[in-house]
Amino acid sequence: MADLSNEKNGVEANGSTNGSAPKKQWIMNAFSMSSPGHVAAGLWSHPKNRTAEYTDIEYWTDLAKILEAGKFHGVFIADMLGVYDVYKGPGNIDSALPGAAQFPISDPLMPIAAMAAVTKHLSFGVTASTTYEPPFLLARKYSTLDHLTKGRIAWNVVTSYLESAARNLNLDTQIPHDERYVIAEEYLQVTLKLWESSWKDDAVVKDAKKGVFTVPGRVRRVDHEGKYFKVAGPFTNEPSIQRSPSIFQAGASPAGKAFATKYAECMFLTGFETHTVRGQVDDIRALAAKNGRGPGTPKLIIGMLIIVDETDEKARAKYEEYMSYADLEGSLVLAAGWTGTDFGQFSDDEDLRFTGTPGIQSMVNCWSATVPGTDGARWTKKRVAEELAVGGPLPKAIGSPKTVADILQTWVDEAGVDGFNIPYAINPGDFEDIIKWLWPELRKRGVFWEDYPAATTRENYYADGKGPRLRDDHPGSAFKWH
Ligand SMILES: Cc1cc2nc3c(=O)[nH]c(=O)nc-3n(C[C@H](O)[C@H](O)[C@H](O)COP(=O)(O)O)c2cc1C
Repeated sequence: MADLSNEKNGVEANGSTNGSAPKKQWIMNAFSMSSPGHVAAGLWSHPKNRTAEYTDIEYWTDLAKILEAGKFHGVFIADMLGVYDVYKGPGNIDSALPGAAQFPISDPLMPIAAMAAVTKHLSFGVTASTTYEPPFLLARKYSTLDHLTKGRIAWNVVTSYLESAARNLNLDTQIPHDERYVIAEEYLQVTLKLWESSWKDDAVVKDAKKGVFTVPGRVRRVDHEGKYFKVAGPFTNEPSIQRSPSIFQAGASPAGKAFATKYAECMFLTGFETHTVRGQVDDIRALAAKNGRGPGTPKLIIGMLIIVDETDEKARAKYEEYMSYADLEGSLVLAAGWTGTDFGQFSDDEDLRFTGTPGIQSMVNCWSATVPGTDGARWTKKRVAEELAVGGPLPKAIGSPKTVADILQTWVDEAGVDGFNIPYAINPGDFEDIIKWLWPELRKRGVFWEDYPAATTRENYYADGKGPRLRDDHPGSAFKWH
């Protein structure tokens, strides 16, 4: 951890350069998955891509070391509990296989302890679903990891959206969308009670002379009984540094946003255009305020593919070279899974805006009327496959350090986001390029820190100097046992 020696570098802790007005410091997060193909189906076969090694622990520990040396805030690992089988389906699993379209996929929690052992400040945002696992078991795992990482774990709360996941987990079909969020609400209440209310801060004394590890009377049951869960407690883990892990979420529907604006400390957004995302940002800020959350919370970060090199030409050439490895069938497998619409039913050049299919319209309507960066090209199945092939449904910043920094600055200024969630085509190569080319430009502009101000996730993402525990405006704080 640095002594915030930004001053030595002419940048103050608040991002101010040479005494000028303080600049907002951006959150820069790496976005990953425990699969050979995340949001770039087919790219696993690129000779510089290491994602096919995702079953090796060294792949994860090397990634953690690279990201921490580059001062990324954290690495966020997405997760799915089934296969994308909507395309040319339902039930077709074969199209996902050649390009490794988020399949195969393994448990993202498993490598975290090893990654923590080779780092000191990098945070780990790990996805887990509130739909399929009892809350007590999940609370125990995240608390254990909060201990082992020394306060560097975050939980990306999802309610899951794949039919195939439901069928893997004792159901014939998914629980309806909004009911999944009702369950998630009670789930959060249970886990927050376990983390915050079961143990007093001074319960563990480890007094060897008196032979007392934990003081009787300072641990209690939670006795939760609700519609979906019955959990007696006491919580079996002793308190960890953050107690509750930092909470991440990405709800986009009305039910999802209501949930996220109550509980999330950091929210992931998507959208191709700054003005549509600005609408989401304003909406989220208003809902969060209504839910009693303080200004500036939750932190809002937008997904953004970044391909950067010395010059615009070199970066563009790199993107084109990546595209030559893309599996467009795999790209459509993912698009079909995200929208719930089988793209296999359309011809390549059909104009998707006129199909009237609700799933496609809701996804495509939040994009531009035309394909970004083209001269008025319409969204057809082929264009969807190409645009999503490298980076998925995220905007792209491709170019020299200056070009990319200008694009990111536009997003911060126009959309009002707090930072970026950055996937890769090539892992870890794209992250190494970002560290090498982009960070110096961002630091020159005073918008990216020189070093971590603290060691825990909550402290690093909030950067407000208020310690590792839940902030007072968070509903989980009501459960704290004072
Ligand atoms: C950046 C990002 C990452 C996400 N990661 C996952 C994930 O790993 N697993 C998952 O089931 N859903 C994931 N989602 C989906 C969201 O949890 C959420 O379901 C989606 O944004 C739609 O919102 P809604 O649930 O309110 O309809 C992700 C969404 C975004 C924007």
